[in-house]
Amino acid sequence: FSGGRNQIKSDRIGGGIGTKPMNADWWPKRLPVELLHSPSSKANPYGPDFDYPSEFASLDLAAVKKDITEMLTTSHDFWPADYGNYGPQMVRMAWHAAGTYRVADGRGGSGEGLIRFAPLNSWEDNGNIDKSIRLLEPIKQKYGRKLSWADLIILTGNCALEQMGFKTFGFGGGRLDSWEGDDSTYWGPETEMATQDKRWTGKPGTEDYDLENPLGASRQSLIYVHPEGPFGNMDPISAAQEIRITFSRMAMNDEETVALIAGGHAFGKSHGASPKSHLGPEPNAAELEHQGLGWINSNGTGNAQYTTTNGIEGAWTSNPTRWDNEYLENLFKYEWEQTVSPAGGKAWKPKGGAAADAVPDAHLDGVRHPLMMMTTDIALITDPEYRKICERFVEDSTLLDDAFARAWYKLTHRDMGPKNRLIGPEVPKEELIWQDPVPALDHEVVNEQDIVQLKKDILASGQSISALVSAAWASASTFRKTDFRGGANGARVRLEPMKNWEVNNPKQLASVLETLGKIQSDFNGKQSGNKKISMADLIVLAGCAAVEKAAHDAGVKVSVPFVPGRMDASAEQTDVDNIAVLEPMLDGFRNYRKGKYSVETERMLIDRAQLLDLTAPEMTALVGGLRVLGANYDGSKHGVFTDKVGVLSNDFFTNLLAIDTKWTPADDAKETFEGKDKASGKTKWTATRADLVFGSNPQLRTLSLAYAASDGHELFVKQFVDAWHKVMMLDRFELQHELYKN
Ligand code: HEM
Repeated sequence: FSGGRNQIKSDRIGGGIGTKPMNADWWPKRLPVELLHSPSSKANPYGPDFDYPSEFASLDLAAVKKDITEMLTTSHDFWPADYGNYGPQMVRMAWHAAGTYRVADGRGGSGEGLIRFAPLNSWEDNGNIDKSIRLLEPIKQKYGRKLSWADLIILTGNCALEQMGFKTFGFGGGRLDSWEGDDSTYWGPETEMATQDKRWTGKPGTEDYDLENPLGASRQSLIYVHPEGPFGNMDPISAAQEIRITFSRMAMNDEETVALIAGGHAFGKSHGASPKSHLGPEPNAAELEHQGLGWINSNGTGNAQYTTTNGIEGAWTSNPTRWDNEYLENLFKYEWEQTVSPAGGKAWKPKGGAAADAVPDAHLDGVRHPLMMMTTDIALITDPEYRKICERFVEDSTLLDDAFARAWYKLTHRDMGPKNRLIGPEVPKEELIWQDPVPALDHEVVNEQDIVQLKKDILASGQSISALVSAAWASASTFRKTDFRGGANGARVRLEPMKNWEVNNPKQLASVLETLGKIQSDFNGKQSGNKKISMADLIVLAGCAAVEKAAHDAGVKVSVPFVPGRMDASAEQTDVDNIAVLEPMLDGFRNYRKGKYSVETERMLIDRAQLLDLTAPEMTALVGGLRVLGANYDGSKHGVFTDKVGVLSNDFFTNLLAIDTKWTPADDAKETFEGKDKASGKTKWTATRADLVFGSNPQLRTLSLAYAASDGHELFVKQFVDAWHKVMMLDRFELQHELYKN
């Protein structure tokens, strides 16, 4: 072997890091456990100690807004402003950044500025938003780390609305940027952009027409709905149906929906001046020399009067850079007939040539155009419920002013969680019900001595370790880092609807709450000053006491941290419908499945672990621990690989990995399994997919082995306790924990 054909000096290097095929190409169904560690804080150049809230708080927000407002009317040749004002395109940018939010898993939204990265930066619906973001770069450079991209994008939307004469409801800063794209959000089953054939059941216009969960958009690569109606059918009635379904997935009711569309389309225009064949590829597929910009248009100058974005051409009002009520007035004033743009986009114009020169050209002096409405705009006066709202708004424009201001605020802040996460001088005083209010701490909290005594009382109360652990887990594990909702603070687990969720084992939960209620009133009754313990704190403390006892019984001395200071929310502070979306449909931590789903149980375990901000070791320790503590929602034996339930042993791992067990499916759907002793054929254990995945997935098996190893038990207990404490603390924003800082 010398000078042979395999030498490295060969000039044929065909691949490098990430060249396809990668694991996901070879095995599309493999469980991507590694997504739990993404996005990685290693991608952030400001390092782990970066304290964004303090940086943002030190900004002169008025000066930033002045810079943004100046930018809006400073047109650049690379992308000349329509009507000399970038305002409308910036409103659309902010709306598209925020509008991906969906209630089912809290993912999407503007919170991390993900619209800058794949896939969102290249979605067809985000066409030319790359130009809007490019226009913001000088401002981002000026303010650096003090102003995140995510905050800048939404703040610019607000500045644009204000510059065009609209009074906004407020602005809260505090959005922490992601520094890389997100591959963990499920955006729908279609593998081709701009298709919608796999996510819907039934036919548009029928009652069965429904959208797969957790999706909030009608089509792959759309923010919400196709402007030409479902599948481009130009039917306003079924367009209204799609609007209602998708906007409610964004937590918007009918009135908020109408306000948002009517408010948004008071501004700007749609772009369809050049045939789409002139457009180059989207940013992620564009050539290097275009420096991150996409959709390069080869017609004319490729911008201004040649711009094609969506493909529909025209404006909704005669003054697209001023806030007024003309959008709704126009909808009612004219009869509408179909029209087609040069790009082939189908929309509506006033019938019989009416208002043919109502709109000035966005760039050419003396050129005028007819008004335009999309099928989804016509839907607002076709659907009877939407129409009633439009009638109210058109009669009294102050109603629209208020409704749009509030709906815009909700749209752009909904994924930021409670009010105490918002910072800056423009945070509105009013706390809104969708922010899941929890009262501010109003009492002295318990001290070390009290905690010791309360733990004793709890453990002597007759409630089992399993019941105490289950109640605390039920309370805290509703948290979602995606929209900062849920969690133990507020103790909403005492209230409707949570207290009756099947996954929370309502009977057992009620009994624990009753016991804790007595302990609480005894304790609070004995205090002479202002010292108290809230139910929210007591539920968590009960879990801590139980975990500590279970660890001690397993021979490991640990103390489980407890940080008091939670408060109890009232039923009045709780919007039942709003909370209902937090109910887990599949919860591998408690071996719960509400129904039958096509998605694999183990995938949803990872999904939920991500919402809880858990790493793979943390998730593994928690599941292994919850099983031996007997925390299955129905008290079942699935995955309870121990004969010492309530003791924090590593039995889950040692028994799962035992080489003499043979597992076979116990039902056709392969959701449950039986583990038999290979020699005797006797059934030893039963399990679900959320148990066996810790033996079958190579990454999780390796972790299980670490916890089952001869030096693994103490490691496991410590990691369980740390992860437990982390989950209990996930919503303590007032303490500025890690999630909020980095
Ligand atoms: C523009 C569709 C809701 C704000 C557009 C465009 C389309 C569209 C196709 C033209 C894009 C282009 O070619 O440049 C829809 C549909 C909606 C909806 C189907 C829901 C049914 C909203 C909402 C807002 C909004 C809720 C804001 C609150 C805007 C603005 C523009 C625009 C400001 C003008 C952008 C510009 O002038 O460059 N919309 N939209 N839209 N949309 Fe919407």
